[in-house]
Amino acid sequence: EKTEVIRRTYSHKLPGEHLYDDILFFGYTPADVLDAVKDFEVRDDDVFIATYPKAGTTWLQELTWLIMHDGNFEEAYQKPVYFRSPFLEFKDEVLNEIGLDIAAQLQPPRIIKSHLPVTLMPNQIQNRNCKTLVLFRNPKDVCVSYYHFYRASSSFGNFRGSWEEFMYMFLDGYVDHGSWFEYTKGWWGRREDPNTMLVFYEDLKRNLRMEVDKLCAFLGKPLPVPVREEIARHCRFENMKQNPMTNHMDVYSIDSNISPLLRKGEVGDWKTIFTVAQSEQFDKFCTDELGHLDIPFRYTL
Ligand code: A3P
Repeated sequence: EKTEVIRRTYSHKLPGEHLYDDILFFGYTPADVLDAVKDFEVRDDDVFIATYPKAGTTWLQELTWLIMHDGNFEEAYQKPVYFRSPFLEFKDEVLNEIGLDIAAQLQPPRIIKSHLPVTLMPNQIQNRNCKTLVLFRNPKDVCVSYYHFYRASSSFGNFRGSWEEFMYMFLDGYVDHGSWFEYTKGWWGRREDPNTMLVFYEDLKRNLRMEVDKLCAFLGKPLPVPVREEIARHCRFENMKQNPMTNHMDVYSIDSNISPLLRKGEVGDWKTIFTVAQSEQFDKFCTDELGHLDIPFRYTL
């Protein structure tokens, strides 16, 4: 028997929130940008980083950027990762941070981040020879990470509700970029595509050095071993956390006193906040939604 979608009324509103194709978005992803993304001109040498928010996007962006740029640490220490690897569907006119424009002006190879479900990605992704890295993470850890981010970020309206309320918002898909479950179903369907590689946060945590090798192989970048080692070292949590180019401490909308972007960087942090009852409810929801697919995070819950 399928769990009813919870559909409660929530007190929290995202600044500028709106529905596009029935998916909730915050004000920095307006409808005109989502329209324009579909017509975005894709190059064969583009690499897309496709992630649901809080899956470890920034981590994979930094790894991929360094691999694709032959370990250019000099540039990596000069320019924030969000300018080297733009957020495709983000538009902040006040700060003049417009993902589509930054992407259009970048020198190839471009490393482009998007949280969009597969259905809203640029149409040309299908016909070009570009590559896509899809990053997955245990949904309970994603939910907890998202909860803290919602509290810390003014772009998300500085969430002040309870943890339990947020968990229901997450299960319901009433969060920016919509349902994790729908997102996951859509991208999971791409796993056989030879230009798509699935990456798991838990694998990056377990053996980052080996994952660098796998990324290099998929991306066609046979980098020397010392460079690979340096990339893995550079991208360790403690190093990215103290690096101003990757820790987002300069992003005005995130109040790091409430919760920094690089918060804990652990596997299984959900255990510190979920009650047993909440965990069971969450698991049941996962099984009902995704149980018919053979997705490995069913085993990492
Ligand atoms: P936590 O909130 O659990 O700490 P995103 O970049 O998609 O917004 O994801 C942010 C999450 O990825 C945060 O999770 C953050 O700490 C984690 N993260 C970022 N860089 C990391 C790294 N080098 N190693 C481990 N986790 C990292």
